[in-house]
Amino acid sequence: MKVILLGLPGAGKGTQAERVSGELGIPRVSSGDLFRDHQKRGTELGRLARSYMERGALVPDDVTIGMVMEWIADNASPGGFLLDGFPRTRSQAEALDEALAGEGGLDAAVLIDVSRAELVRRLSGRILCSRCQTPYNRREAPPGEPGKCDRCGGELYQRADDKPEAVEKRIEVYVQDTEPLVAHYREGGKLIRVDGERSVAEVGDALIRALQPVAT
Ligand code: AP5
Ligand code: MG
Repeated sequence: MKVILLGLPGAGKGTQAERVSGELGIPRVSSGDLFRDHQKRGTELGRLARSYMERGALVPDDVTIGMVMEWIADNASPGGFLLDGFPRTRSQAEALDEALAGEGGLDAAVLIDVSRAELVRRLSGRILCSRCQTPYNRREAPPGEPGKCDRCGGELYQRADDKPEAVEKRIEVYVQDTEPLVAHYREGGKLIRVDGERSVAEVGDALIRALQPVAT
């Protein structure tokens, strides 16, 4: 089961990735989380990524492809994997298609579809764990104890790129570079569209239902 999650910033990719990977028994990764982890550890890649992420721009393809391919080589199980936020450009999609060519290719590209008005609202309320990166929302999905992660007790913070100017830029970049991938996967017969403008539980149910036939 090799699956990717597509969707505008704030569509709910990270929120749903955890449940989907748990229920399908496949490891998951978010390319954004990998970059944030590098920043936390102060690596050279982290410093490079920060200069792009703060502005809401994409990190260059060569470093992004290298980082995700390394994760796949180290973590993909025989059961497959779930990628959240990769690929995001045509070059990244081609690199993934090429890497999976000998293994029957990708099984599904899931688009979590949400309107712009809704995602601006969601991102302005998002806080996430500084340790395990679990996302919460001040209004819609608050933690049990304010400021603390329910899963690991880590401190919650707001992402620098959730400021309104960076969110605008991320939306613009998505429309220009990532949206064309929707047509790429539709033409390849891999696209599954899920209405993301429902409750977290309803979106998750729809996602699992849609992936069930692919998994069997
Ligand atoms: P990344 O971290 O991937 O950010 P993103 O794509 O902009 O997506 P988000 O993580 O903001 O949103 P999400 O869809 O995961 O939503 P979430 O579940 O948190 O990338 C960040 C940056 O890294 C990029 O801008 C780029 O610079 C770089 N990068 C990453 N990948 C790259 C690549 N492949 N190539 C080049 N550069 C790359 O939910 C959002 C909020 O909504 C939360 O508060 C949540 O609680 C709430 N919520 C979720 N679902 C619902 C619901 N159904 N109802 C109500 N609230 C909900
Ligand atoms: Mg995310």
